Amino acid sequence: MSDVESNETGLSDIDANERILRSLDYGYRWNLDVEHIIELYQVCRAHPGRTALELGSFRGNGTLALALAGKEVTSIDISDEHLETRQALLRPHQLPVTFLVESSQGEFRKPETYDIILHDNTLRGAVMLLELELYWKRKLNPGGLLMVHNVEKIRLPELLDRLQPESHIVTADSRKRQLAYFAKPEALRR
Ligand SMILES: C[S@@+](CC[C@H](N)C(=O)[O-])C[C@H]1O[C@@H](n2cnc3c(N)ncnc32)[C@H](O)[C@@H]1O
Repeated sequence: MSDVESNETGLSDIDANERILRSLDYGYRWNLDVEHIIELYQVCRAHPGRTALELGSFRGNGTLALALAGKEVTSIDISDEHLETRQALLRPHQLPVTFLVESSQGEFRKPETYDIILHDNTLRGAVMLLELELYWKRKLNPGGLLMVHNVEKIRLPELLDRLQPESHIVTADSRKRQLAYFAKPEALRR
């Protein structure tokens, strides 16, 4: 339901998309929190970028948020366990989404670059720092936005040192899980 929708209350399409996102199943430990889903939907909706990459599709909640925000989404997951569930979640909306069963390491070797990247897989510690730096440098377009879930699991000062973002913000959910947003400069600094 990405088209403008009018209803008896006069709510806009934004509210309609939020209603869809709030009605999703959030009963799994690995799900992004509903408030983080709404937040990233709003942030991405305001971002001018056209394309988005999600690393860690799981059951498709984050994918749907990115797609309802108007992005052309590629979403990868190393596991096909929930592939049918995420495909079924997206199917009625007929939005431009491609699901791939792929590792973040495999995706990294491909030439495509993106305007928005949502990193939400289970990497931890130094391996995650390196992956985030590589994705930031090679897979995120200038002016792009990197979102990292569970950023509390890594050393944020070291990540900031590696990325040198134009700006960043970190928000927390009720379980103290953090979602960080890093804005990439339009032109890379020398
Ligand atoms: C926290 S869940 C993602 C939650 C989802 N983004 C949401 O909106 O609720 C993490 C997912 O990352 C996947 N994953 C773990 N390691 C991965 C890797 N190296 N590459 C791609 N996906 C990976 C897991 O299979 C799992 O489905």
